[in-house]
Amino acid sequence: MLVIDPSRIARVKGFLDELQYDVIHRALRPHYHVLPWPDFDDFAEAIECLPAPLRAAFDLLLLGKSFARKRAETLLDPLFIEDLLALNVLEEPTPAVIRTAGVSLLSFQGRYVFVSILPTYPTCRDTSIPVYLGPDSYTLAHNLPHGRPRDTVLDLGTGSGLQAILLAQASRKVVATDLHEDAVATARFNVALNGLQDTILVTAGDLYAPVEGERFDLIVSDAPYVPVPNSVPYPMYAAGGEDGMLVLGPLLDGVAAHLTPDGEAVLYAAGMGDQQRPFLTARLRALAERDNLTIDLVELFRIAIDNDLLNHTASLALAQPGETGTSPEWGALFERQGARVIYKVLIRIRHGAPLLRYIATGTGHLRATIEAADAE
Ligand SMILES: C[S@@+](CC[C@H](N)C(=O)[O-])C[C@H]1O[C@@H](n2cnc3c(N)ncnc32)[C@H](O)[C@@H]1O
Repeated sequence: MLVIDPSRIARVKGFLDELQYDVIHRALRPHYHVLPWPDFDDFAEAIECLPAPLRAAFDLLLLGKSFARKRAETLLDPLFIEDLLALNVLEEPTPAVIRTAGVSLLSFQGRYVFVSILPTYPTCRDTSIPVYLGPDSYTLAHNLPHGRPRDTVLDLGTGSGLQAILLAQASRKVVATDLHEDAVATARFNVALNGLQDTILVTAGDLYAPVEGERFDLIVSDAPYVPVPNSVPYPMYAAGGEDGMLVLGPLLDGVAAHLTPDGEAVLYAAGMGDQQRPFLTARLRALAERDNLTIDLVELFRIAIDNDLLNHTASLALAQPGETGTSPEWGALFERQGARVIYKVLIRIRHGAPLLRYIATGTGHLRATIEAADAE
């Protein structure tokens, strides 16, 4: 588990800034703003042109490669290596060899976040991904309502803490919660790494349990929503139970009780549906009626069920090498649920006249899509 030692963490940040880790990462990555992870081999090739210290930093911290400790201390600063070892970012699996303790350092818009190494990287040793960061995280990040300062913010299922970190700039207080103890520890570390301890409080617990009785001007979440057969073990970051609503259901149920009168919730989700619409529409309509909520459900894109099955087959093969063939469990689950399509969606919820508006023409940007629908 990462260690919170503010003075060492501040020094590590100083080293990273001096190396221009984020500036160079951004310059080398064509999809920096959309995809957190570069292709391993492409990035290894792209960094070959860099000065040796920067190349070593990316090899060690982003790609997760092992180094002889002496060599790393020659290429980087020995104090940097000592700090990273003391903070448990680095470990020494055998004497004189160092590597990260299963984490990878990504940067986004000038912020740094340690997260679990991508399972498809050859350096990954734990495919359960305790601290998740994926393309959906970035979709949510781009759709955070940055324009308006918020007094209080709740980031439910914070993972690495990225959304909380991005929102901290325009908020007085941000509470970030997660159920996974590694995510909580890592989010706390990332908050300190970005110098935001005075604004962000990271707490452990199930959904709203750590903030019972509190209300927020903004609630954001990218909670687990993947429909998973009961017979298949699946990592916590994504497992949504057979209907995908295991976490998303109680999260939606608790929104009204945790939003201030003028508050707003912005959620990223996915769900099964038929050819016409996500099954989520019925649930959201009932929620709007029950809790007097105005809800916009914006479709980002849809995936045909056969393609989604292939994705599950690929992720199972990663978790259990040697497993091949399409996943019969997921095929049966989709059949049982009558699903034909998986929808990726953004949801905006406010107190107001009970209304569910389903906007099937999402442009990828929540606010612009809603404004266009308002103008019609
Ligand atoms: C898909 S990840 C998203 C992480 C992060 N919000 C982001 O945008 O990158 C979902 C997160 O929800 C957390 N989680 C799962 N079930 C939870 C629950 N019942 N209560 C709180 N957090 C939960 C997971 O540990 C994981 O960190």
